[in-house]
Amino acid sequence: MTGTDTHSNAPIGVFDSGVGGLTVARTIVDQLPHESIIYIGDTANAPYGDKPLAQVQEYAKAVADELIARGCKLIVVACNSASAAFSDYARENYDIPVIEVILPAVRRATSTTRNGKVGVIGTTATVESGAYARTFDAHAGQIGSEVEVHQQACPLFVPFVERGITTGRQILGITENYLEPLKDAGVDTVVLGCTHYPLLSGVVQLVMGDDVTLVSSAEETAKTVYRTLSERGQLADTDPDREVTLSFESTGDPARFASLATRFLGPAITSVSQIPELLR
Ligand code: DGL
Repeated sequence: MTGTDTHSNAPIGVFDSGVGGLTVARTIVDQLPHESIIYIGDTANAPYGDKPLAQVQEYAKAVADELIARGCKLIVVACNSASAAFSDYARENYDIPVIEVILPAVRRATSTTRNGKVGVIGTTATVESGAYARTFDAHAGQIGSEVEVHQQACPLFVPFVERGITTGRQILGITENYLEPLKDAGVDTVVLGCTHYPLLSGVVQLVMGDDVTLVSSAEETAKTVYRTLSERGQLADTDPDREVTLSFESTGDPARFASLATRFLGPAITSVSQIPELLR
C-alpha cells in the first residue's frame, strides 16, 4: 500500500486527461472554498477516451502517485475514462480515499429515475469498459432495485467542447444522432458520463426534452468529496488568515491548457463598473 497520513489542511488532488476535470474541480471549489487543490491535467497523454483501458490505467497511476507524493489527503479521478480504467486498482493499492466519478452518478441516477430506464453517454473507452453497466448492476443489487441501462458513445463531443462549439446546427445534428437510440428506448434519466459533457447540457436537454433528468457526474462527485471529508474529520479549517492554494498543472503545453481552462472554470471578472444612474 502507498499513501500518507495527512492532516485536514493538506490539499485535495484532482486529475483528468486534460481540462474536462475542471468541471469537477470547479464544483469542489464552490462547495468547499477552504480546500487547497492540486489539479493535474495529463494533456501530454490526452485524450484518454479513445485509448485501451490498460494504457489509461498506467497514465492514471503515474499521476495519482505524483499527487500522493505531494501529500494529498484525498484524490479525485475527475475523468470517466480514467475512473473506468483505474478505480479497481486504486481501491486495492492506495490507503487514502480515491473518489471516482462513476459511482456518485450511478447513485443519483438510480434514485432519480421513475421508469427504471437510464441512458449513459460517454467516451468510447468509458462505454466499452462496461464500467457504468457493472456499477448500476452492483448498486441496484445492494438496494434491491432494477435499472435498465442504455449506453451511447459520443466520440465527437469532446473535440467540439474543446473547440468551444456548444451551440449551432452542427452540434445539434450530432446530438440528435447520438441520442436517438436513448429516446427510442424511453429513458427518463441521462448520465453525462464524461467530464466535458456538463458544457453540453443545454443541447442534450433540448434534444432529450424537459421530462428527462440529466445527472452530472461532476456535480455528484463534488458532493461525495464533501461527504467523505466530513465523515473522516478531514475538512480544512476555515481560518480566514490561512492561505488556500489552487494549483493547476499540465503534463503537456501549459499555454494551451490555460486557454482551454477558462472555458471550463469560467471567465475571470476583470472589471466591474458602477451604475450611478440606478442609485436611489
Ligand atoms: N475527461 C474524459 C472523460 O471524462 C474525456 C476526455 C478524454 O477522452 O480524455 O472521459
